[in-house]
Amino acid sequence: MDDSARGGRRKSVGGRLAGRAALVTGAASGIGLATVHRFVEEGARVAAVDLDAARTAEAVAGHDSVVVLGADVRDSAQVDAAYASALAEFGRLDIAVNAAGISGVRADICDLTDDDFADVIAVNLAGTFYSVRAAVRAMRGNSPSGGSVVNVSSVGALANFPLPAMYPASKAGVLGMTRAVAALVAPDMIRVNAVAPGATDTRMLPQDGEIRRAVVELGVLRRAASAEEIAHTILFLASEESAFYTGQTLSPNGGYVMH
Ligand SMILES: NC(=O)c1ccc[n+]([C@@H]2O[C@H](COP(=O)([O-])OP(=O)(O)OC[C@H]3O[C@@H](n4cnc5c(N)ncnc54)[C@H](O)[C@@H]3O)[C@@H](O)[C@H]2O)c1
Repeated sequence: MDDSARGGRRKSVGGRLAGRAALVTGAASGIGLATVHRFVEEGARVAAVDLDAARTAEAVAGHDSVVVLGADVRDSAQVDAAYASALAEFGRLDIAVNAAGISGVRADICDLTDDDFADVIAVNLAGTFYSVRAAVRAMRGNSPSGGSVVNVSSVGALANFPLPAMYPASKAGVLGMTRAVAALVAPDMIRVNAVAPGATDTRMLPQDGEIRRAVVELGVLRRAASAEEIAHTILFLASEESAFYTGQTLSPNGGYVMH
C-alpha cells in the first residue's frame, strides 16, 4: 500500500535535497512550516523543531520523513537535545534552518521594558546562536561534505521597518553572526547564509492596520510574500545550487529595498 492509499502524503524519492537530513526551527507555522514542506518535497528528512510541538505535529501530519521535536530555542540545553535527537534519528545532519522568531510588543521606545527588549533578543538572536553552534558541532563530523546553515533575519535588518528597536537589532545581529560564523567554518565546508524576508503572510504579520499597510506598500510589488515564496529562497541556500554562497544575505522583499 502506498502513502496516498493510507491517506498520507507521498514521500519524495528524488529531488534537490535527496538523501539530506535537515533541522528546521520555528516549524509549527509560517516560514518554518513552509520550509519543512518544501524540503520534504525535495527528498529531505526533516527534524521539525518548535516551542509548540503539538501544533507542529498537527501541521506535518502524514509526512513519514518528518520527526517533530519540542524545544524552546531560548534554552541552549533544549536546542542541544533537539540536535542530539535529530542526529540519533538520521545519523547525520546536512542542513539547519533557524526560523524561530518573535516580533515582540509594539510600543513607543519610552514604554518598552527591559524584559520586552530581552525577550526578543533571547529568541531571535541568542536562540539563533544556540542553534548555529549546535549545527556546526553536528556538521563538522560530515567532512568532506560539510553542510548548510540558513538563518532567517528580516528586511528590518537592512532598512527602516516599523517595529520597535529590539526586533531590527536582533535581526541585524543575526546578519553579523552569519558573516562571522561563515568565515570561521568555511574550512569545514560548512556554508552559513541568511534570508532577510520582507512582509510575509504568516501569523506574525497583522492582517490589517497601519503596520501592514506600511510594510506592504513600501515594497514596489505592493503585496506581502507567501511563506512558500520565502521557503523557495531558503531551499536554494540549503541546496548545492548555492554552493558558492557563504556569509551572504538574500532578501526576498518585493522591492522594499533596492541596492
Ligand atoms: N512574517 C513576516 O513578515 C517576517 C518578515 C521578516 C522576517 N520574518 C521572520 O521569519 C521567521 C518566521 O516567522 P513567521 O513569519 O513564519 O512567523 P510565525 O509566528 O508563523 O512562526 C514563528 C515560529 O517560531 C516559533 N517560536 C517562537 N518562539 C520560539 C521559541 N522560543 N522556541 C522555539 N520556537 C519558537 C513559533 O511557535 C512559531 O511557530 C521569524 O524569525 C521572523 O522574525 C518574518
